[in-house]
Amino acid sequence: MSVVEEVIRIREQSCTLEPGNVLPGLSQGAYISEEFFRTEQDKVFAKNWVFVGFVHEFVEPGTCAPIEVAGQPLLIVSNDDGEIGVFHNICRHRGLKLVTDRCNVQGSISCPYHAWSYSLDGELEAAPHFGGFRKQDVPGFSRADHGLKRVRHVEWNDWIFVNLSGDAEEFEEYSRSFAEQIKILDVKLLKPIGKIDLGEVKCNWKFLMENFIEPYHVPIVHDETASGQPLKDHYTIVAGRCLGSAIDLEAEKETTAKSSALDMSARYLTLFPNFVLGIYLPDQAGVHLNIPVSADRTRQFRVLYSVGEQHYTDSDKENLCNLWYSVHKEDHEIAELLQEGRRSPVMNDGGVMSPHWEDSANQFQNLVLQAMKD
Ligand code: FES
Ligand SMILES: [Fe+2]
Repeated sequence: MSVVEEVIRIREQSCTLEPGNVLPGLSQGAYISEEFFRTEQDKVFAKNWVFVGFVHEFVEPGTCAPIEVAGQPLLIVSNDDGEIGVFHNICRHRGLKLVTDRCNVQGSISCPYHAWSYSLDGELEAAPHFGGFRKQDVPGFSRADHGLKRVRHVEWNDWIFVNLSGDAEEFEEYSRSFAEQIKILDVKLLKPIGKIDLGEVKCNWKFLMENFIEPYHVPIVHDETASGQPLKDHYTIVAGRCLGSAIDLEAEKETTAKSSALDMSARYLTLFPNFVLGIYLPDQAGVHLNIPVSADRTRQFRVLYSVGEQHYTDSDKENLCNLWYSVHKEDHEIAELLQEGRRSPVMNDGGVMSPHWEDSANQFQNLVLQAMKD
């Protein structure tokens, strides 16, 4: 039996369907097995709408950023008009990976091997000497057929999503339940005010997603950084592909800019599989980019946004970045210990989850397993 089949079998065996009953966790293979990770890349990340980057980082024509989705090298490119395209990051001659670091390519993308060059819209503009010295033409070879291969993408607000397989349902439909939940936020007023590079976290990407959407840990793990968010005011959100948690406090503060701790009403929302948005009322939001690297490594960034006209000084921005860095590091420590724990056979059964606080995280796991079965 494969690891994937084993994880699904254990889950189904321990599933209690009575509402309000204890919920089963995911057994160890789902977090530590490279086989499970590779299948997940093919079935979850290649087939769904995956979050890959921020539109505001591509306003400058010629900006190119290499990314990876489901283990495949892709390239985000901003063309002469500042429009974004996503391509396979692969030269159509011998298949070299074209761009290795974020850069501005100044007008065209040139392959470092035999100097084939591509426009910012992906057309093959030149294949120098391909047919002989100073001769590009070869019978049976058409440059028009050898442009960069495009990948389906959408830009939604400041966020870029990619669907590698090309056959996921339209993004509007795919994200409908999420869009419903974020109506409290006027997304047109979002302005990026900072970016935190949180480095590579030594855990499976699912631990970071699950941790974000269960409020059970907040008063314990973030006892100081979230001192104004008591457990009793939290609740979970389970709405199709939108899973999360929320806290409603009676009076919202006028601004979150000078906070040294989280003490406002908030929404912690995810769009399956990897888009993460935090809304901190009334005037702040944050988006995480979680990039699975291997079964036990995840790369993470966070972009901070202001909402509306609130002015943030440089020192406000620095305070916020420091606050969020601390909050994330508190979660990372926990997620890394979860990863360590999954090496033990004690977790063969996946443990248990609270039907009250962890139903959102449990449903996230269901979506992963559902995709693995399809
Ligand atoms: S591999 Fe790119 S030009 Fe030859
Ligand atoms: Fe947390």
